Amino acid sequence: IFADMKVVIPAPIFHLTKMYNEDKFEKKVNLGVGVYRTDENKSFTIPVVKKCEFEVVNDPTLDHEYLPMSGNPEFRKVATELLLGPDCKALQEKRVAAVQTASGTNACRLAADFLAKRMKLRTVYFPMPTWENHMVIFDHAGFKQFKTYPYWHKKRRQIDMPRLLEALASANEGAVVLFHGSAHNPTGMDLTKKQWKQVTTVIKMNKLFPFVDTAYQGFATGDPDRDAWIVRYMASEGLEFMAAQSFSKNMGLYNERVGNLVSIVSDPKLVPALISELMMYVRPNYSNPPAFGSRVVSRVLGDKKNKEEWLKTLCEMTDRVKNMRKQLMQKLQDLNTPGRWDHITRQSGMFSFTGLNEEQVAKLVKEKHIYLTASGRINICGLNTKNIDYVAESISAVVKE
Ligand code: LMR
Repeated sequence: IFADMKVVIPAPIFHLTKMYNEDKFEKKVNLGVGVYRTDENKSFTIPVVKKCEFEVVNDPTLDHEYLPMSGNPEFRKVATELLLGPDCKALQEKRVAAVQTASGTNACRLAADFLAKRMKLRTVYFPMPTWENHMVIFDHAGFKQFKTYPYWHKKRRQIDMPRLLEALASANEGAVVLFHGSAHNPTGMDLTKKQWKQVTTVIKMNKLFPFVDTAYQGFATGDPDRDAWIVRYMASEGLEFMAAQSFSKNMGLYNERVGNLVSIVSDPKLVPALISELMMYVRPNYSNPPAFGSRVVSRVLGDKKNKEEWLKTLCEMTDRVKNMRKQLMQKLQDLNTPGRWDHITRQSGMFSFTGLNEEQVAKLVKEKHIYLTASGRINICGLNTKNIDYVAESISAVVKE
């Protein structure tokens, strides 16, 4: 029965990493997958996260018994508070249901399964462009109609607000609309508060269902509170919605798969029912989530001093990224690279949507050994003081050709 198997590429982003790893060229650069790197091009474990890992490993009271299907209660509490903030009315009124997931991807999938299979929702809107996996997740969950709302104005290299609002204004009641909470992937361009308010008005008017992917909370500004503004605003406006949380980027726990699915509902009585119904999709899928990463996050966020240390490191990481943005823009301008490059510093988070076309990207990959996605997205965290000249010169060269 396996006779017609063919080798496929299920995730182009991880294929780029494979190509990079196999490349023997000395000056090769990986600007593909969204992972933080130090100025020495090293993978980075946040010191306080490392400290908490040791504590978890050496804690004699912990064992390997199954977690509840809904996950580690302590983790769900601190993670949800990180997203919604301590003053959140919905939290105080106990109108929030939280379920631990295997990182943000799985939070998206659990929500999509529930919305498609239980709520019978059929239509989902994505920003154009969005993370390559979003559409696949909603498709696998059973959504039938996939629509996009314009997000990125290619020529102006900024958000296409009039067309975005127009698309959402034409969406029908009950459509799910996916938003990125902060540090939009791949464009690195977020809505202003004023623009978010306009979007929220349309959501209310058309009775749309917001789903907010907050995979980069803290990575846009270095401040997780600021990065959660839209989620907190929607909650304060009395909307019902769901949000996916991930601790891959902001705590660097990529391979531990630590996430949380947060649902805000109108009545506290609905919370136990909703959690139990979500379990109907957890049980036949992975049954219950892994414990280790959730215990680490609980220790980081549950202790004032640890949390402060984490916030400080997060700022250092985002400062390094901001500095790389400035340098890249400056160098491209100094090299008289045709076009405008100021969008690189107007964008935030890990990524810059450079505006490079597919042909230019292909040349960078093949001729310069610089790995980036076909969309022209680069991971700014892959830049450092040693490779930035090479990257700027290479980009400039392919643009001038
Ligand atoms: C990315 O966009 O590079 C990351 O979110 C990694 C992934 O899973 O795609």
